[in-house]
Amino acid sequence: MTGELSPIDRAKFVAAKRAAEMVQDGMRVGLGTGSTAAWLVRCLGEMVRDEGLRIKGVPTSTRTAELAREVGIEVVSLDQAGWLDITIDGADEFDGELNLIKGGGGALLQEKIVATASDQMVVIADAGKEVEKLGAFPLPVEVIPFGWQTTRSLIEETLVALDVLGRSAALRMSGGAPYVTDEGNHILDLHLQRIGNARQLALVLNQVPGVVENGLFIDICDRVVIGFGDGRVEVRDINEGTIEHDQVDVAEKDNLFTDLAD
Ligand code: 5RP
Repeated sequence: MTGELSPIDRAKFVAAKRAAEMVQDGMRVGLGTGSTAAWLVRCLGEMVRDEGLRIKGVPTSTRTAELAREVGIEVVSLDQAGWLDITIDGADEFDGELNLIKGGGGALLQEKIVATASDQMVVIADAGKEVEKLGAFPLPVEVIPFGWQTTRSLIEETLVALDVLGRSAALRMSGGAPYVTDEGNHILDLHLQRIGNARQLALVLNQVPGVVENGLFIDICDRVVIGFGDGRVEVRDINEGTIEHDQVDVAEKDNLFTDLAD
């Protein structure tokens, strides 16, 4: 069954599997959104079923909530959980300081709230997500539908004074209509190519009326688990300054690799 996984999927899987080992009995766990996070949810579901792991999962999207329930994880809201021990999520890009671009899957708002309400955030990613400078991946910005075109113009004007290479903002579409987030908002994808000062950009964007949140995660991520197609993983801890290497066994049970709907 694992022979059907592409090298990228195997890399995502091993990163997720290694990160799942960081989850301990009794923890309240933020569950990310996206294809890598879906592997994590499946791995945790297997641990719940086979090892009796007891956790409360706080999903960051309706998609993740559905999958978590499907694999047997107890799902609670963030307000029910109060504070989380750990959040594990994917990313679209990460740099050497573990600053991130997130929101490619459209869930950046809940993802940022949940990650910020956690003792630690762990990012799981294939090695291709690492960049020297953030910005090649279009930066998602969640905006309210009211006056979104005005908000887009204001963002583009604001970008003129900032250290970025590109300045166009595109409304994200889905099936011929504007994409709608779980919160009923739209997403503008900013094609910046290179972000000179991500910290400044994150602050400035959130000052624009109509912007709900942006996909820059600055000083939020504590660890990254980088997966490789051959089963190797690298765990970097930005607070401890440590780097560990490991190998994950990919000879998994068939049921983990079926019906992955993300
Ligand atoms: C969703 C996200 C995802 O974590 C990000 O898009 C990475 O997705 P994938 O694991 O599918 O590559 O931010 O909003």
